[in-house]
Amino acid sequence: MANVLTKSDNYQHWRDDKLANTSTKLEDYLVEIENPFELRDSEKNKVVSLCQQGNFALFHVLEQTDYADAIINMNAQFGLKDFDRHLYVQDRGLAHITQSTNKNQSEFIPYTNKAIGWHTDGYYNAIEQRIRAFSLFCVRPASEGGTNEWIDPQMVYLLLREDNPDVAKALIHPNAMTIPEHKVNGKVRRTTSTGPVFFIDEASGELYMRYTQRKKNIEFLDSIEVNQAIEHLDELLSKHTDYHFKHLMHSGQGMLCNNVLHKRSDFNDDPNNPRLLLRGRYFNRID
Ligand SMILES: [Fe+2]
Repeated sequence: MANVLTKSDNYQHWRDDKLANTSTKLEDYLVEIENPFELRDSEKNKVVSLCQQGNFALFHVLEQTDYADAIINMNAQFGLKDFDRHLYVQDRGLAHITQSTNKNQSEFIPYTNKAIGWHTDGYYNAIEQRIRAFSLFCVRPASEGGTNEWIDPQMVYLLLREDNPDVAKALIHPNAMTIPEHKVNGKVRRTTSTGPVFFIDEASGELYMRYTQRKKNIEFLDSIEVNQAIEHLDELLSKHTDYHFKHLMHSGQGMLCNNVLHKRSDFNDDPNNPRLLLRGRYFNRID
């Protein structure tokens, strides 16, 4: 895939193949998993081929006594082993995405009941910590809301380029998007991250996207082309193309993906039974 961004023939071949092989029906992406600790070849192959073609798969597992253990075991069978050790990761790479009563943690939107806009995970990470895949698993849904929406970033690139090649070109500019350094009490917690929105990830040779729709603490290159391209991108995301997917996960359902662009709606909790999702972020890709 290395030259799809620059070589026109390679792009056209890749585009035709992707459009011919990408389903727009949510049910085509659902895989029933009988035993997450020991995947059948058919289950494993289906998840892998869905992720190769459309970059995500939905799965459903039968009730488990320990969901976290089941997810960690299952993810490892897909090669998802090198997990991101960020601040609120709990056991063996999984973060518990739920409303937090901890003051520091609740400053981060994922640990509140608020909506989150379109983004890829780890868009602020250094190359060594690039998030190539994540899993999201629903232990308990909210009593109302908390719907996920997502779209394959490679399809986003394709749709943008089909619509206007200049827009796609502006977003591969090496300095298109900058996330300034993050300081806490004068100490640098995270250094400045500058890079393109779309690029080829060298480790996998795959087209990759880093993006967030939040405009606070994000700087785009001061050029007309890049700023117009971001407007086009946000406009595309706000539409409902055939490649936009929306689903409210119920208990036992989850998603495995190659870091698709995603968002969630706000939600209301039953305080005795709060929404709980388990999320793993990995430097590996599902392939
Ligand atoms: Fe996310």
